[in-house]
Amino acid sequence: MGTRKRVCAFLFSNPGLYQHSIAKLRLINGVDYSSSRRQFSVVNGEAIRGKQTTEQLYKHVDGLSTGAEVTAVKDQLDPFSLVSDEISPLTDRLRSMVVTEVPKLASAAGYFFKKGVEGKRFRPTVLLLMATALNMPVSMPSVDRLSPTGVIDNLETELRRRQQCIAEITEMIHVASLLHDDVLDDADTRRGVSSLNSLMGNKLAVLAGNFLLSRAFVVLASLENDEIVSLIAEVVEHLITGETMQMTTTSEQRLNMQYYMEKTYYKTASLISNSCKAISLLTEQTAETSTLAYDYGKHLGLAYQLIDDVLDFTGTSASLGKSSLSDIRHGIITAPLLFAIEEFPQLGEVLQRGFDNPADIDLALDYLGRSQGIQRAKDLALKHARLAVKAIDSLPENDDEDVRQSRQALVDLTKIVIKRTK
Ligand code: FPP
Ligand code: MG
Repeated sequence: MGTRKRVCAFLFSNPGLYQHSIAKLRLINGVDYSSSRRQFSVVNGEAIRGKQTTEQLYKHVDGLSTGAEVTAVKDQLDPFSLVSDEISPLTDRLRSMVVTEVPKLASAAGYFFKKGVEGKRFRPTVLLLMATALNMPVSMPSVDRLSPTGVIDNLETELRRRQQCIAEITEMIHVASLLHDDVLDDADTRRGVSSLNSLMGNKLAVLAGNFLLSRAFVVLASLENDEIVSLIAEVVEHLITGETMQMTTTSEQRLNMQYYMEKTYYKTASLISNSCKAISLLTEQTAETSTLAYDYGKHLGLAYQLIDDVLDFTGTSASLGKSSLSDIRHGIITAPLLFAIEEFPQLGEVLQRGFDNPADIDLALDYLGRSQGIQRAKDLALKHARLAVKAIDSLPENDDEDVRQSRQALVDLTKIVIKRTK
């Protein structure tokens, strides 16, 4: 079979890949392509409006190379690449949003938005994928959808822009919380570089965090949606609640799994779950759909933090880009140790003493190493990852290719979270 036939046969059997692979073909065959939302494509200089079936697009493709085939196969599994062309301008907007005239404040607030230290932008990726995953087609005649200045196109663009705002708000709140967290934890490093507090001092780090929050709330206000304003305000309250719960535990609460999970929800899962819900609220979905979006974010967030807590024991400082064994050194007891206590109750007594004596840290790590604690924490993370997948599988059926592809990407993200090593 010739190259063209092989590539087309492959694309026919993987329709969801089709338009995405066209984007990659541009690099190889000089095929032009535009629109991250795939509302229209330009293939070999010819504009094709609206969403196209694989068969329709097939007619426009010429001269595919073997390289294109390989690229198409490789791209199938990467959820990040699905929204990468939207993440890049979003990152630029974030940089411009945190600009201010006071030089020290500008460099402090922009610190974790600089190239190379902006992180994986995991949250914006989840939120943009969720936006497409919930993109139930508007019930209007298809002729309107194809009109160059059509109402539907404009409405969809406007909705997408508002959903991108949620992603930007979420990322600013996340970075603000990290700046404050590093002050509270007296952290030296973050994302493989000096933490802001260690570089510019606690006072400026706290002020930069406050500044980011204020900028996030300006964007939030621009959405003119009271329900979402309340929701996001509640998220900030949750972050503070979770952090305070962690800081002020009684000796009984420190060894209580339920307390740990509640704190974990407030500290980590609330931001992503409520932001997913906000994405859904903007599309005016049913309450059931918004709850499923929330459930996905909640279970993904819980799985994420459980793995984070495992990695604090199993990762190296170099791989994590921040100190390992940080939790136990701060007297914070996480899931692996809580499970280990069930096998070695005497570990509970060691943990209750606090860690004034450094030898107790070694003793606790020794018990942990002999227990199933790490594995059981990973199993719990897996359970939450599966619940996140269940929420996606429970969304109303939809056979739109972009919707299906984004839902698959959200499912794939749960696997990435479980398997991550940094
Ligand atoms: C990381 O925890 C920290 C958080 C997930 C949230 C921190 C929240 C606050 C400091 C409350 C203030 C909030 C705002 C919005 C200003 P970690 O120490 O377990 O993780 P790490 O290892 O990445 O530091
Ligand atoms: Mg910390």
